Amino acid sequence: MTRGRYIAFEGLEGCGKSTHVTRLAEAIGGVTTREPGGTAIGAALRAAMLDTNNTMLSPRAEALMMSADRAQHIDELVVPTLNSGKHVVSDRSAFSSLAYQGYGRLLDIDELKRFNNWAIQGNWPELVIFIDVPVDQLLERLKKRELDRFEREDRSFFERIYTGFHTMATADPQRWLIVDGTPPKEELQATILQGVQDRLGITLS
Ligand code: TMP
Repeated sequence: MTRGRYIAFEGLEGCGKSTHVTRLAEAIGGVTTREPGGTAIGAALRAAMLDTNNTMLSPRAEALMMSADRAQHIDELVVPTLNSGKHVVSDRSAFSSLAYQGYGRLLDIDELKRFNNWAIQGNWPELVIFIDVPVDQLLERLKKRELDRFEREDRSFFERIYTGFHTMATADPQRWLIVDGTPPKEELQATILQGVQDRLGITLS
């Protein structure tokens, strides 16, 4: 049996990732999931990490909780699904930790790479679709929501993460696909589908 393909979406909050995760998975017959919170254990970790009461959570503890979520997710869901021949379409991946805990919280990126690589046993997504929406527009969108612990961070945090995503995408263009997240949903969906077909040669279901 041919192994499924592991595709992740990345981007800042409010960029529209979750809509396109669902739409892409439908188009290619893939399984949708997310980090953090793709498993029952991960959902408990996610709740603790997003809880606005947990203002004392340290950056290293946060990084380890993200990677614990991810280890569980890879073992319980991602690898078994890929091995069963199905594609996985994930809302975020280990690259979010390099962006948020690395560029955002300023933890050492090489160290984060090392222990996240151990957490996921080397199973990095082979295609990462970065939905690029300027920070200003995202901050406008966030004004309409009730904010979680991450979303309450200041503008410079999001700017560092935005730069981080661009830096990683530019350094590894084979893996990353940057798509402009500002056009209407249907247009963006068509761009994403075309990109996935070009990069991975996946046929539509
Ligand atoms: P979400 O809003 O995309 O569901 O993600 C929840 C939050 O968790 C979001 O603010 C980004 C953050 N996050 C990290 O800080 N590090 C990570 O590794 C992941 C996967 C998410």
